[in-house]
Amino acid sequence: MAEKTIFFIEGDGIGPEVWKAARPVLNAAVEKAYKGEHRLVWNELLAGERAFRETGKHLPDETMDALAKAELAMKGPLQTPVGKGFRSLNVTMRQVFDLYACIRPIKYFQGIESPVKRPDLVDMTVFRENTEDVYAGIEFQSGTPEAARLIEFLADELGANVDASAGVGIKPITPAGSKRLVRRALDFAIEQGKPSVTLVHKGNIMKYTEGGFRAWGYELAEQEYAGKVVREGEEGPVVLKDRIADAMFQEALIRPEQYSVLATTNLNGDYISDALAAQVGGLGLAPGVNMGDRLAFFEATHGTAPTIAGKDLANPGSLLLSGAMMLEHIGWNEAASLIHAAVEKAISGKKVTVDLACQIQGATQVGCAEFGDILLANL
Ligand code: NAI
Repeated sequence: MAEKTIFFIEGDGIGPEVWKAARPVLNAAVEKAYKGEHRLVWNELLAGERAFRETGKHLPDETMDALAKAELAMKGPLQTPVGKGFRSLNVTMRQVFDLYACIRPIKYFQGIESPVKRPDLVDMTVFRENTEDVYAGIEFQSGTPEAARLIEFLADELGANVDASAGVGIKPITPAGSKRLVRRALDFAIEQGKPSVTLVHKGNIMKYTEGGFRAWGYELAEQEYAGKVVREGEEGPVVLKDRIADAMFQEALIRPEQYSVLATTNLNGDYISDALAAQVGGLGLAPGVNMGDRLAFFEATHGTAPTIAGKDLANPGSLLLSGAMMLEHIGWNEAASLIHAAVEKAISGKKVTVDLACQIQGATQVGCAEFGDILLANL
């Protein structure tokens, strides 16, 4: 029998309810697919508001120690603690565990109302660099002595003039950081038989950061993927191309079928993954994972939804589909397929949570728990 230990964090806000609805479906899909041959072993870790209440820390040492050795973990949403000096717990974990690739598959579910005419043409997986770019957290507030010093240094030492009243941020992008992200995207495309990888960048303006990302992506393909990856216009199993970020937003709307895997920098990736999810009509159904070389940390991509928390209104779909991604990651594809089919059946059955009900004509609204029961019954 194969067992896989999954460390999991319940999360804040709607976290407990979506877990309660989603976890039985994950277990049942594995049971059904492998008749008891495979099993998920769940190991809970504390983080967020509940951790703070019980231990006085939002990210207790035990949680961080366990994750430091873990290979698989899943989490519900975590509220960013309010107050000065608190960093986002999500960002902290991504940086501590060097979860450098944020991967989000975006695909249409039949029956969901979308703002575009052909949402079914969207089948893309976004690989977003997760540790660099303007997200590095190197920022200085307008009017502070730090900002003044930096502005002075730029003028005196580098001849770069910045208005003295500016807030200033730094955008670091490295060859190594870019290459390890692009490598993951290329490996994924090769393994999954995807036709292309597109480097999305704004290198026409930011030549040495965004343009660097593009150049290092192509360099990597030449160094490590000769014969496996070709340039646009050439014949080969995987085509590596690039698009300027603003053009990519247009392409995603006009010619989505020409794009399969996108590899991009942190800020571009943030924008494009949400835009694509909206294009297929489903932020509430969007799964994701943050991956390093060891730990793969699957998570619902939405936040804690404080206004609906505790009201049995939340959609557990994003967490459930993140679980399905995890099953695919460990090669338990049959169980993942059962989950996808159960979600498709629930949508075509039109008994769904409120967020989906308002996007499906003639749908009946059900609560989070009942939606979980429907998904379970659909397996
Ligand atoms: P949010 O995703 O919590 O909510 C945005 C909107 O989507 C709200 O209208 C909410 O009701 C709705 N929504 C979200 N998830 C839903 C679901 N599963 N079912 C039905 N409706 C859903 O984003 P917001 O309000 O910006 O953030 C709230 C808190 O969550 C903040 O503290 C933020 O820092 C945190 N957050 C955490 C994330 C994470 O842990 N990965 C990601 C995004 C936000």
